[in-house]
Amino acid sequence: MTEIIDGNAVAQSIRDDLATAIDQLADAGHTPTLATVLMSDDPASETYVSMKQSDCEEVGIEALDIDIDPDADAAKLYDTVSDLNADEDVNGILVQMPVPDHVSDRQVLRAIDPRKDVDGFHPENVGRLVAGDARYKPCTPHGIQKLVESAGVDTEGKEAVVVGRSDIVGKPMANLFIQKAPGGNATTTVCHSRTEDLPQKTREADILVAAAGVPEMIDGEMVKDGATVIDVGINRVDADNDKGYELVGDVEFESTKEKASAITPVPGGVGPMTRAMLLYNTVKATGLQHDVTVDLP
Ligand code: GUN
Repeated sequence: MTEIIDGNAVAQSIRDDLATAIDQLADAGHTPTLATVLMSDDPASETYVSMKQSDCEEVGIEALDIDIDPDADAAKLYDTVSDLNADEDVNGILVQMPVPDHVSDRQVLRAIDPRKDVDGFHPENVGRLVAGDARYKPCTPHGIQKLVESAGVDTEGKEAVVVGRSDIVGKPMANLFIQKAPGGNATTTVCHSRTEDLPQKTREADILVAAAGVPEMIDGEMVKDGATVIDVGINRVDADNDKGYELVGDVEFESTKEKASAITPVPGGVGPMTRAMLLYNTVKATGLQHDVTVDLP
């Protein structure tokens, strides 16, 4: 029987387990505070930010919700980030990506104080991750490590194949898989749009992470028997329903399920974990900033 990995359940257990650390911070007089900054009117980005806000509320993290007109000057965003950096009551800052074309995402990510960079996207935090001394693991790959662990799969010595080389998922995922640490020690291959003979690579994978943003690009023919398959894709495709679209992953679920020993669904797999690990990083950030030792899940 193929295990359908329940991201909602694993995320809920992480949220429940964060209570210990949140209580430890409260005992020391601190409430973790996350500022989300949205400079976009893209409905998907609006939805993601509002879900992050309600997640914070559920676990007792204070959330500041800052909206910037997408047509405003880039300076408006930099000034906002600079104010949040200086605000001692703010522990984590998340600028929802993508930002408008007239704003440099690279410059924005560098403007965030790395101690408050709960996405883990600042070059200082990327460098620390690569060096094996992560301060904040990026939320999606960290969540995937937790999902793989929850399925009882040990990564050590396994063949891990990551399809996609984004800064947000593919690159940090590969870096986590190669760390000499729990959830790492995997022999890791990164595939991308210029990879020749992708199916030959994916068929080698004991653990396959699909994060290319291409609807249903991985099917059962591309997967080894017994593989663990993690689908990061959330793609809107046209559908004959009320909304006019449906969400599909980067993995063709039905044919892949026949081969895999464990697989994440879309929705309800990786997505909830990304949000749970943002809470985790915000709690961690608060502990680091106030020198309070916290027990994290
Ligand atoms: N846009 C899509 N995923 C993410 C994420 O993990 N963090 C931020 N800041 N923006 C995103």
